Amino acid sequence: MSEHGAHPVDPAVDEATAGFWDELYQRRDQVWSGRANSVLAEVVEPLPPGTALDLGCGEGGDAIWLAGRGWRVTAVDVSATALGRLTAAATRAGVASRITAARHDLTRTFPAGSYDLVSAQFLQSPLELPREVVLRAAVRAVAPGGRLLVVEHGAPPPWARESHPHARFASPEEILAALDLDAAGWHTERLGAAYRTGTGPDGETGTLVDHVVLVRRRD
Ligand SMILES: C[S@@+](CC[C@H](N)C(=O)[O-])C[C@H]1O[C@@H](n2cnc3c(N)ncnc32)[C@H](O)[C@@H]1O
Repeated sequence: MSEHGAHPVDPAVDEATAGFWDELYQRRDQVWSGRANSVLAEVVEPLPPGTALDLGCGEGGDAIWLAGRGWRVTAVDVSATALGRLTAAATRAGVASRITAARHDLTRTFPAGSYDLVSAQFLQSPLELPREVVLRAAVRAVAPGGRLLVVEHGAPPPWARESHPHARFASPEEILAALDLDAAGWHTERLGAAYRTGTGPDGETGTLVDHVVLVRRRD
């Protein structure tokens, strides 16, 4: 694994964005579950392993799960703290050789290459994040025959007491439109909502709604 945390001040990274996410991660030893996101696991289960690009990979639950299934993963995040945790967890899981961790502020730089799977799982932020710019770069990174999977929170969690930072939740159709696909070159495999049970900060459980877009580039 390579590339992350090389220098504390990186001109290609917005320091306010990096600082916000690093601070969020540093508040707890582990922020996310460490497991793969359920829609990603469902989509990938029947696929043969290939190359994957995980955008906003966080602590690496998806990347490590993919690598465990034989995928070669480029895992990207703006937070050096998250990438450090991913590196440590991948080493413990014995899959570090199949993961390249790279620090990018995706609004400024984007990893090179093309991939069989490009995944953006909850790449949402209370800070300004020009999604369309990032999503269109994600489209360009999909190899012929490859897929782009975008999963976003579709509504605030039932335990949210105040207005949620992601005040505006895009519909699946709006996410698809933001990709600006050339219709002849792409097939939409999945478009809609998915539901899962989640646990809130006080241990309460509730149903969470996710918005899912899965598109495949024609060969
Ligand atoms: C809500 S978390 C989702 C993490 C992970 N995909 C998951 O599902 O557990 C969003 C992630 O996007 C990253 N992120 C936010 N803005 C970013 C940016 N401009 N460039 C790269 N990563 C960013 C954050 O550091 C964070 O790890």
